[in-house]
Amino acid sequence: MAEETHDLRLVPRDEAYAILDEQLASVLAGIDDRVAAMATVAALLHHGFGHLWTGFYQVVVPGRLLRVGPYQGTLGCLEIPFGQGVCGTAAAQRQTVIVPDVQAFEGHIVCDARSRSEIVVPVLDGRGELIAVLDIDSSEPASFDQRDATGLARIVAHVAR
Ligand code: SME
Repeated sequence: MAEETHDLRLVPRDEAYAILDEQLASVLAGIDDRVAAMATVAALLHHGFGHLWTGFYQVVVPGRLLRVGPYQGTLGCLEIPFGQGVCGTAAAQRQTVIVPDVQAFEGHIVCDARSRSEIVVPVLDGRGELIAVLDIDSSEPASFDQRDATGLARIVAHVAR
């Protein structure tokens, strides 16, 4: 069971994240590797929910620069300075940012014209240092809400262990 990608599109959101949380604990057991964890999280989220783009931007210069990490989807932009776009804003504020309408977010970085809404969740390590952000883009407007923020905070903990 643990090896397959579950279709989570029709599962209530809270339940879907609980399923993923359990699956990640099982799949990543004994694996102490951040890139492997990010790649696994991106694959399960992306194919489970059918998002447009799902992946990580890693902090390469603390407080200054993010660079693309493991992701699923079409070509993402390679580098994002802190403070720019949705990812750079979440990184600078170390807070989850939910954007129901990307066209209304000033400074939004367009990498795929089909993107309509997004959520970006900070990933902190055990010492509370920002190591990455998880960025999920959707082709539907207003795809994300507080349930996703809560659920994804649990999911990114698998990267930060
Ligand atoms: N829309 C994001 C960047 C998207 S990616 O390159 C996949 C932003 O504004 O941060």
